[in-house]
Amino acid sequence: MTTAPNVSVFRRKEDACRQLALDVAGLIESINASGRPAVLGLATGSTPIPFYKALIELHQAGKVSFQQVITFNLDEYLGLPREHPESYWSFMHRQLFDHIDIPADHIHLPRGIVDDVPAHCREYEQAIADAGGIDFQLLGIGRTGHIGFNEPGSPRDSRTREIHLDPITRQDAAPAFGGLDQVPTSAITMGCGTILAARRIALLAFGSHKAAIVKDALQGPITDQVSASFLQEHPDANFYLDQEASAEL
Ligand code: PGA
Repeated sequence: MTTAPNVSVFRRKEDACRQLALDVAGLIESINASGRPAVLGLATGSTPIPFYKALIELHQAGKVSFQQVITFNLDEYLGLPREHPESYWSFMHRQLFDHIDIPADHIHLPRGIVDDVPAHCREYEQAIADAGGIDFQLLGIGRTGHIGFNEPGSPRDSRTREIHLDPITRQDAAPAFGGLDQVPTSAITMGCGTILAARRIALLAFGSHKAAIVKDALQGPITDQVSASFLQEHPDANFYLDQEASAEL
């Protein structure tokens, strides 16, 4: 069955992120009140930075604690050690984890340096299952339509695995790495199936450069050529957009 995702359009990205941070803080509180940890799936990239800032502000104001939160990040570049400044491990600590009260052993990201990639991916899936599955999954969207690093051609039922990065994705990452030749060629990503198993999903997209792919994701055919289009089939998918990203809807 196709259920239209819920679309909220905000004047500024900061407004969208503040609203989402309040929503997530409320979700954490209600899940913790039921006597179990809340399991959050987290995302990297420039898009979620104001969301993490808003969560940190709520934490500093005493409005949310992360003591009973478990996190799983979507992806990590293969070949980068955790200490590399562009690793998603470094990003997440810089942007969020170093500023909140989450216990270190509640944090999970795929490893960028790993001997047996398929075994590591199976362990990651098992760790998500052992935590009880993901309550809330945060997503950005790449210009290829990827969620996580599920580039065009990623099957609907794909699970955590190695993925070869699309040339557009590598181009978009080139400035941060100081040149295209410095950008890793592959990554480990949760699969589309892993993401779609989350009980609630929020996709953030800001700026006019996201307008065309947001339209494809929400109003185009459901296809593995645009992995975000699979969200049309999720029962609780929510898009938080600014005016520029919603311009073609
Ligand atoms: P961005 O990346 O937030 O840096 O635009 C989004 C993505 O690729 O998912």
